[in-house]
Amino acid sequence: MKKHLFYSLSLLLALTLTACSNNDNETLETSIQNQEETSQQNQEYAELGSGAHLVKFPEDLEEGIVFATYDRGDIHEDIYVNSKEAIEAAQNGEEFPSDTVITLVGYKDGELDQYLVMEKRTGWGSQYSPEERNGEWEYQAFTPDRKVREDNIGRCFTCHANQERDDYINSMDQMKEFDLGEISQSKNSSTEAPIAAMPTEDWKISKISAHMIDSEVINKEAINVVDGQEKSKVIQDVLMKMFLQQFES
Ligand code: HEC
Repeated sequence: MKKHLFYSLSLLLALTLTACSNNDNETLETSIQNQEETSQQNQEYAELGSGAHLVKFPEDLEEGIVFATYDRGDIHEDIYVNSKEAIEAAQNGEEFPSDTVITLVGYKDGELDQYLVMEKRTGWGSQYSPEERNGEWEYQAFTPDRKVREDNIGRCFTCHANQERDDYINSMDQMKEFDLGEISQSKNSSTEAPIAAMPTEDWKISKISAHMIDSEVINKEAINVVDGQEKSKVIQDVLMKMFLQQFES
């Protein structure tokens, strides 16, 4: 309803305006022309790399996933991505989610040499020309002590632009082939700690003797409720069993 009213009002306004401005047609046209000219001047695009300051050093780097490594002579590179979701997106042929951070940690002769970071966020890159921008990615280079390194960030764009069809990353094949099962296993090699840390307040545990399990007459929740230390122990044991069974099957 409101929409209709709005349209009718705008139509009426437009008609009135045309009627009134009939005499001033010339001035109206020139002013439109002027407006077009100024907006064309505003279309000047930002210099490639001028948004690099948006990319901060990824402090949570080590929590990320190394999905690719490169060895070339005395150079070794570990490529990290900050989320499992990014890998899943790549594997499903979807775009990387906003907030994806990919970091190249470079070593030379076994010594930490540099950090190269690319980060993608919704809306980033819109200041660059459509031909030059790398989608929504910005780039930044950091020294081994994690400080911004003076660099020509524009060259990151021009080279990574060659990978446009892989959302601007070079290591797409490795990401697609990366086995996500690998990380849940390696992370879970110390499973007891995360399981022990699980909050158990909201769980209810009852002890029911085996022959009563199928009985419908008993209120399974109310009888023999287990609490406190014993309760968390039972929950942890069950979770642990479930976890281990997943690998046996
Ligand atoms: C001459 C081309 C070129 C330039 C310039 C370049 N890169 Fe790369 N970049 C690559 C290639 C190729 C790889 C794959 C790893 C390799 O081969 O060492 C890569 C890998 C990366 C990766 C890991 C993700 C991926 O694409 O596989 C990041 C992050 C990265 N570069 C950031 C940067 C930053 C930041 C700059 C600018 C300071 C930059 N790159 C400049 C070619 C380039």
